[in-house]
Amino acid sequence: MNEKSVKPESIAAQALGWVDEATRAIAPPIHTATTYVRDPDNQYRSGRIYARDQNPTFDQAEAVLTALEGGHASLLFASGMAAATAVFQALAPGDHVVAPKVMYWSLRNWLATFATHWGLRVEFVDMTDTDAVRRAVQPGRTKLVWIETPANPLWSITDIAATCAIAHAAGAVAAVDSTVATPVLTRPLELGADIVMHAATKYLNGHSDVIAGTLTTREDSALWLRIRSIRAQLGGVLGPFEAWLLTRGMRTLFPRVRTACASAQAIAEHFARHPRILEVLYPGLPSFPGHAVAAKQMRGGFGGMLSIRIRGADGGSTSGATAAIATAAHVDLWKRATSLGGVESLVEHRASVEGAGTPVPADLLRLSVGIEDAGDLIADLDAALTAAW
Ligand SMILES: Cc1ncc(COP(=O)(O)O)c(C=O)c1O
Repeated sequence: MNEKSVKPESIAAQALGWVDEATRAIAPPIHTATTYVRDPDNQYRSGRIYARDQNPTFDQAEAVLTALEGGHASLLFASGMAAATAVFQALAPGDHVVAPKVMYWSLRNWLATFATHWGLRVEFVDMTDTDAVRRAVQPGRTKLVWIETPANPLWSITDIAATCAIAHAAGAVAAVDSTVATPVLTRPLELGADIVMHAATKYLNGHSDVIAGTLTTREDSALWLRIRSIRAQLGGVLGPFEAWLLTRGMRTLFPRVRTACASAQAIAEHFARHPRILEVLYPGLPSFPGHAVAAKQMRGGFGGMLSIRIRGADGGSTSGATAAIATAAHVDLWKRATSLGGVESLVEHRASVEGAGTPVPADLLRLSVGIEDAGDLIADLDAALTAAW
């Protein structure tokens, strides 16, 4: 396949058109070997020595993702957290880092605890406000600006191009957690980012059966070399079966994401008018604060993630939090579970997961829209709202 002459949809569907040279098989094998045979003259002409970071099963998934993101190279990791933390670990103690106030909760906790103890100076900023980012960066001292857009679980939008320009002017690298946007909707490297991260556990794999993470770089750099060696040395690598499943999952990425986007838009519009709902948070609604920026940097949809805030019931005697938990208790088609980006739709009372100190309103339910019929999903949630009140 000439990847320059075909659309990303074709690259994904055919996993770059790969056919096995030896057997003409259209699906790749899974390489389980942990080690490779050395040549009699003591060389390793195969280019592979040990499978911790040289498993051939990684190659295809990494190549497909690199092509979809328009990058130079990609690396698979054992989880989204392993991928994200590798970027921060490639910095030096004392380096200043700017990260969003609203971001994936576990990474935020890691930055506030482990990374800070390790010596990174982490500053959390409202990234929906580019002036706030401009004020936060310290030229020469800030080494990394971390962006997540749309950001969990309020779906706040960061202007990637403007924020990357601010990072670069200060001499910092810009990295984007693009898990929710996916390469179907946004290509951060084209907007100026240096590194794109995915919790591949979510949309890239798409079937709620693999924990995986990825990084893709725009160019070879000293930072990328350090990240490579962190993966090799710390060993946060994916198993070969998971890498193979990830390649298979990416083949249906485009139709899955497009279906989820169309349904999420319909669900958001329906519940925005619902008397039992206080607010719908979805970048595809024109009333959403980040809508204009999202429309500029997301193509073909606003993602499959939204959140709804439930009104209190019984004239105020039942709080929004209680009504939200009761609504989640009454769904049937939606599944009550954490995570996102799978083919099945999930609902989660996010504050219960994040616990004390969360910025998430207690009346908020996070919805991950799958690929079921949108009418069925709306009817199920409608019925749950009625039953909960
Ligand atoms: C936006 C985002 N980034 C990173 C992660 C971490 O990924 P993983 O669970 O694969 O470690 C998640 C997981 O929910 C996520 O939603």
